[in-house]
Amino acid sequence: MPHQRDTCLFIEGGHKLSGEIQISGAKNAALPALAATILVGGEFFFRNVPWLLDISTMLELLSRLGAHYDSFQDILTVDTSHLERAEASYELVTRMRASILVLGPLVARLGKARVALPGGCKIGKRPVDFHIKGLEALGARWELEHGYINMRAPRGLRGTEIIFDFPSVTATENLMMAATLAKGKTVIHNAAREPEVVALGLMLNQMGAKISGLGTETIVIEGVKELSPVEVNIIPDRIEAGTYLMAPALAGGEVVIKGADPHHLETVIAKLREAGLQIDVSEKGIRSKKGRSLKPVEVRTAPYPGFPTDLQAQIMALLAKAKGTSVIVETVFENRFHHVDELRRMGANIVVEGRVAVVNGVRKLQAAPVRATDLRASASLVLAALGADGVTEIAGLSHLKRGYEALTEKLSKVGAKIWEESCQTFRDTLCQSDL
Ligand code: UD1
Repeated sequence: MPHQRDTCLFIEGGHKLSGEIQISGAKNAALPALAATILVGGEFFFRNVPWLLDISTMLELLSRLGAHYDSFQDILTVDTSHLERAEASYELVTRMRASILVLGPLVARLGKARVALPGGCKIGKRPVDFHIKGLEALGARWELEHGYINMRAPRGLRGTEIIFDFPSVTATENLMMAATLAKGKTVIHNAAREPEVVALGLMLNQMGAKISGLGTETIVIEGVKELSPVEVNIIPDRIEAGTYLMAPALAGGEVVIKGADPHHLETVIAKLREAGLQIDVSEKGIRSKKGRSLKPVEVRTAPYPGFPTDLQAQIMALLAKAKGTSVIVETVFENRFHHVDELRRMGANIVVEGRVAVVNGVRKLQAAPVRATDLRASASLVLAALGADGVTEIAGLSHLKRGYEALTEKLSKVGAKIWEESCQTFRDTLCQSDL
């Protein structure tokens, strides 16, 4: 087997899809859930954890702290009885920015943490100032030490009021976790409302926390003295589901998405229907079929329940073949259009000005060697390739493996011609990503 770094994804476009696709557990729900195990010593049991590179990174981080994990069939056990260290190394944080999620739980349980400060990122600045300011407001002190956030709260955390400038997902999660063990009441204003944030809050409540206002912009956390370990079922991945719902628009045919929660996808489904997809939601799953033609639409990404930034690249691939001009406004990240250059290599007509992309639909996309630059950008190239003439070679497979469990197998099963083998065009080092 060639090393994954030299392995590319090949897709022959134009094969109609037919069949069912089972959705995996959400990476963005599993990561904070795993970080929450730090809050209390004991054995946690997880079901429906997706088998992805980012999950392995979080497990590696937990084991470096002193936790033990094991998996048997579909159950992942994490034992945090003996935490010996309170450090997340630079090497792990650069591999996965979500490593910052251990900061709040470490300070809450051990009264200290040393977590590498993440550097810049392709899709934007992505600072962690909300995380740090929030923990400071909760009474932690910190200093920057050789690239590390060195944080301490030897006398514990105290409840407080926190107002975010923007409803950051992981900052809300980090502070919610930390505040569960703080003395008194914490109120987070302008909190993120994403289903993954709600899922984490429910897990924490199951552990004994007192959190209310989940799913609203004001989350209230009454600190408790103790928490206990629990069994958790990870919620389905709405971004994976949204990606596969778009596939018939490019490849033709129809697919039934199984195991997704349609409530998490209301905005996405509405937008895809507007773009000409026929989508039916029933107890059997979410059926998606290409209508007579794809129509141009306007898309504005926004925090939940708005259109997710994590599906912006994918819908751009779809709109590249719509009849007419679409406009996509990216409001969450300031530089998240890296997929545009690669889509252009496949014949897409897209003009970018700042945070706005204007997509002039073309009749045909053509296969080409393309390079995935980050996780969601890779998914957009996969979709484009499903609808392109010829065989597309996609380099940067490691990005896809961070967020899409068994993508090659899932798409093959519904009739796509897709396979992994040694790269033919790409030989050099692949870019690293952040999402
Ligand atoms: C999470 C998701 C990611 C998704 C993103 C937005 C995880 C593991 N990742 O990332 O897939 O694309 O939400 O839905 O759940 N910001 C600051 N300061 C901060 C924190 C954030 O300025 O301290 C800004 C960011 O630069 C960005 C915006 O807030 O412009 C939203 O980012 P945020 O919600 O924090 O994204 P993540 O939680 O990193």
